[in-house]
Amino acid sequence: MGIDGLLPSAEVAAAAERVFGERVGLAAEYARLLSTDGVVRGLIGPRETPRIWERHLVNCAVLGEIIPIGASVVDVGSGAGLPGIVLAVARPDLSITLVEPLARRTAFLSETVTALGLESTVTVVRGRAEDVVDGPPAGADVVTARAVAPLDRLAGWCLPLARTGGRLLALKGASAADEIAEHRAVVAGLGGADPVVRLCGTDLIDPPATVVEIVKERDFVPSRPKPSSRAAGPKRDAAGKSGGRGSGRGRTRRG
Ligand SMILES: C[S@@+](CC[C@H](N)C(=O)[O-])C[C@H]1O[C@@H](n2cnc3c(N)ncnc32)[C@H](O)[C@@H]1O
Repeated sequence: MGIDGLLPSAEVAAAAERVFGERVGLAAEYARLLSTDGVVRGLIGPRETPRIWERHLVNCAVLGEIIPIGASVVDVGSGAGLPGIVLAVARPDLSITLVEPLARRTAFLSETVTALGLESTVTVVRGRAEDVVDGPPAGADVVTARAVAPLDRLAGWCLPLARTGGRLLALKGASAADEIAEHRAVVAGLGGADPVVRLCGTDLIDPPATVVEIVKERDFVPSRPKPSSRAAGPKRDAAGKSGGRGSGRGRTRRG
């Protein structure tokens, strides 16, 4: 397999060769699946087809620059496999779990994994990130997400899936700095370190991919809910059951 006619320019072809190396043919097969089946099944817009390499494949693959060799990765809200399948193609050393709630999308993901021969490194899990936290995807070295949710909600879903010391890598684009400013306090409350912006592919694509990186410093432990006045009974009992301070916020973020 080689790079096919979907490539828009020599620069992007060169970038693709760099990020996918000898697996660029496999990437071309994925580009073909996205541009045919993916479009027919409504998983990717037809207008994306001419820029499938630039905007989707290369833009996602450069994330690999900041993922260590042999890492376990959970891609939350994979959709048609972005960035999860791309990383699996570019980086056969990674163990990747794709978490996606919609059946139509997990069907495409599973078929694509088989078509590309990625079964030994990729697992597809159907579910919402907040519902799979007790399952095998949890404890990952890295959790990735692109275009899934604002940073506060994303941190609430993704940090519980990472091990302590693991990282959330959220592909964010131009909104990255604003989102960090807006949600820094919530992220801290969820056990995340101060978010930082990382640029990937600076020597390959213009603009480079903008990634918000959050290291998980500790588990988020929701406070015990404050008893409601009816359940609490007499005042002295309610005082005796302290520990609910801040629980409303924590529970909301988890929900
Ligand atoms: C806009 S799409 C982005 C898909 C893909 N990441 C991309 O960049 O093309 C958002 C995806 O997040 C998924 N999603 C929404 N809420 C989710 C949740 N709570 N847990 C996991 N995935 C979720 C949706 O089903 C959808 O596939």
